[in-house]
Amino acid sequence: MKTVQTIDDLRSLVRSARAAEKTIGCVPTMGALHDGHISLVEAARKETDFVVVTIFVNPTQFAPNEDLSKYPRPLENDLRRCEDAGVDLVFNPDAGTVYPANDAVFVEVPACSTTLEGAHRTSHFRGVATIVLKLFNMVLPDIAFFGQKDYQQQLLIRHMVDDLNVPVEIRTCQTVREPDGLAMSSRNTYLSDAERQSALALPQSLKIAHDACTAGGKSPSDARQAMLDHLVQFPDVKLDYAVIADANTLSKVDDAVPQMVVLIAAKVGSTRLIDNMLISQSEP
Ligand code: PAJ
Repeated sequence: MKTVQTIDDLRSLVRSARAAEKTIGCVPTMGALHDGHISLVEAARKETDFVVVTIFVNPTQFAPNEDLSKYPRPLENDLRRCEDAGVDLVFNPDAGTVYPANDAVFVEVPACSTTLEGAHRTSHFRGVATIVLKLFNMVLPDIAFFGQKDYQQQLLIRHMVDDLNVPVEIRTCQTVREPDGLAMSSRNTYLSDAERQSALALPQSLKIAHDACTAGGKSPSDARQAMLDHLVQFPDVKLDYAVIADANTLSKVDDAVPQMVVLIAAKVGSTRLIDNMLISQSEP
């Protein structure tokens, strides 16, 4: 495995791989890698011949009041995990390499940026779309891999790639969870033991809504109410939103549509967590 910090080094190694007729997979991350990230690497290894993991804590997607400075950066451990997972190349540039022109150009994807996460984190998705397009232009991958964990993010990236004719295929991989159901996240390390217990309210409430809509035959609005009734038992879970939406547009739905997603965001203590679960009307 090679690790590079400059765009020239990255491009020259990717060019060599391509000259050897290898297809290029890309897994963009902010590091603090866990099994969720590694599942994306595994998916990339299955589908492509040369896997590039990018590790960059992207300042433009953090608001001034967010956790940019305390975001975990265990680089040595991350490199070890990448090596063990069979990654070919890690690109971990510094901020000056990625943003030399000082934020001169941004990418906006209005269709996906104003609701849910976008409503609570103004300019977050502008930062995400910009860095992801920049990384695509640096790596020039054939296929890029994202997690369903960040549902709105992968939808936004799909929109961007479609609308800007970016020649990369997007794959969305299932959320990897701890044995008790909590979605793996680099931010879980901020949780105290008590908060870690309360955080289980998130996946539990998603499952309640999911099961109510499928096996329970309830309408999305009734299923949402069942979810809220569960969450109310956890006073230290401060809800930002809990909604059932059309899985393609993220518009909230009261009556069932064929593909739905239930999404939640909440603060547990001072840690903000998000999670979601797909609901298909064809499920039993
Ligand atoms: P980060 O939070 O490090 O996540 C990197 C990728 O891992 C994202 O595609 C995310 O959805 C996926 N991921 C996170 N937790 C997961 C889990 N439990 N199961 C499966 N996949 C999971 O998302 C970002 O970084 C950034 O916004 C980025 C796209 C890198 C742009 O800066």
